[in-house]
Amino acid sequence: MSSPSTFDKVLIINFGGQYTHLIARRVRELSIYSEIISYSDASQQLIEELRPRAVILSGGPSSIYADNAPKVGSWVLELGIPVLGICYGHQLIASMIGGRVERGLGEYGKTEVEVVSRDALFEGWGTREVVWMSHSDYVAELPEDRAVVLAKSVETGYIAAFRLRDRLVYGVQFHPEVVHTPKGRKLLENFVIGVAKAQRSWVLGSIIDMIVEELRKTIPPSEKVLCAVSGGVDSTTTALLLKRAVGDRLVAVFVNHGLLREGEAEAVLSMLRSLGVEPMYIDASREFLKALRGVRDCEEKRRIIGELFAKIFKGIAEGDRDIKWLAQGTTYPDVIESGFAPGADKIKSHHNVAGLPKWLGLNVVEPLKYLYKDEVRKIAVALGVPEDWAYRHPFPGPGLAVRVIGEVTEEKLRIVRKASKIVEEELRRAGLYRGVWQAFAVVGEDKWVGVKGDKRAVGYIVTIRIVESEDGMTADWSRAPYEVLERIASRITREISEVTMVTYAITSKPPSTIEPC
Ligand code: XMP
Repeated sequence: MSSPSTFDKVLIINFGGQYTHLIARRVRELSIYSEIISYSDASQQLIEELRPRAVILSGGPSSIYADNAPKVGSWVLELGIPVLGICYGHQLIASMIGGRVERGLGEYGKTEVEVVSRDALFEGWGTREVVWMSHSDYVAELPEDRAVVLAKSVETGYIAAFRLRDRLVYGVQFHPEVVHTPKGRKLLENFVIGVAKAQRSWVLGSIIDMIVEELRKTIPPSEKVLCAVSGGVDSTTTALLLKRAVGDRLVAVFVNHGLLREGEAEAVLSMLRSLGVEPMYIDASREFLKALRGVRDCEEKRRIIGELFAKIFKGIAEGDRDIKWLAQGTTYPDVIESGFAPGADKIKSHHNVAGLPKWLGLNVVEPLKYLYKDEVRKIAVALGVPEDWAYRHPFPGPGLAVRVIGEVTEEKLRIVRKASKIVEEELRRAGLYRGVWQAFAVVGEDKWVGVKGDKRAVGYIVTIRIVESEDGMTADWSRAPYEVLERIASRITREISEVTMVTYAITSKPPSTIEPC
């Protein structure tokens, strides 16, 4: 992906660490642009082209002694810019300079370290501080003529931080990017701003200007852009950025696939209109529901829905030959996920309504490709989107089709729609809506015998899923208060006559995914 050249940036070389995105986000929170590249793409030439202010080597699950351990050459120490190795990165730098890395018992969780030599990296740190460790190999010894030890673990005496004597290259064994290292943000700030002297230029106004300018350069003045809008924060922000960049050459389309939440179509249209976007409204609900008849497999549902969307877009583009572009709301984690693990198993073919086919014949433009979700939300608000909409929960492109297990029927859709509305209403009432990532209802095929009135009744089981997450890639089930869950359950069984049982999903991701299928 191209990289915005007008911002000071920090490049993060990823060795497969579980916290790599967190490092990138922490740097961005300092108003400095950060970008992740895989160790396998990293080369001296590429880094010299990207001209970062500093490089961070991430953690990773490997041991540096493992066969095929991910590595970069020692050229990384010769770049003439500050480098910070974290965890695995720390061990890698130590081994590059002839240090001794050993297998140990490891340190996990909160660990006390002692700063033994003062350095700009530890500005604002006391002599002893708590940090978060997660490693088994450790740096046992460093050549004294090359490195100075800055911090040690109090209990084990392991080297917790060091710096090369003749250049601004550092290693820290702990994870400054996680919240369990209370002074971690300060350390990253010390490194990026204090040591690397990066300018805080990644601020809303200039990000918007950069994206708009890039769109103007990309889309020739005679060409139009098709942008499907759903009311979600990604597509809304994409449309608003395009509106700024190309004005009336934006062709916004809202497709009602009949798998929307209650009252959604009307609400989305009026929100968009209030922002000056007048979308073409296409009610294709009959077509979608017909195509889904008898289909039970989730991936098949996604494929059918994706294909129908693409057909609709093609029809619009054929009716207006100036349409040469299709805008997508792809965000930075999607870009990294798809680029970083080429051989990774496909878990679900999601994100952007099942990859659009080539036969569409349109060029793709992705204005949000540099941004994390929290950045998209802030930009949305800066562009005038009401907070309620900017902070709405994500809703999958295939809509309720993935929240109905088995065949999508009118009855199940009605149930899941009403139940989801109740979940949302109760969470808002309890002031919990903004604090969770997603909250919805699912209906499957299993039945439960109940008693309604005085009679036995066989009804549907509705499962409630409420999860907390930073980015949807991992998630924890929400420990929502019992009273809220109880109100949800009793309203659902009372207000939806076909339901006799409500269950609550208490499995995190992994091993479960967020959506049921
Ligand atoms: P999973 O279920 O994979 O979901 O844990 C992670 C995030 O992705 C959303 N999701 C989708 N979004 N089309 C989309 O546009 C899809 O097919 C799809 N499936 C899941 C999900 O809502 C969650 O936020």
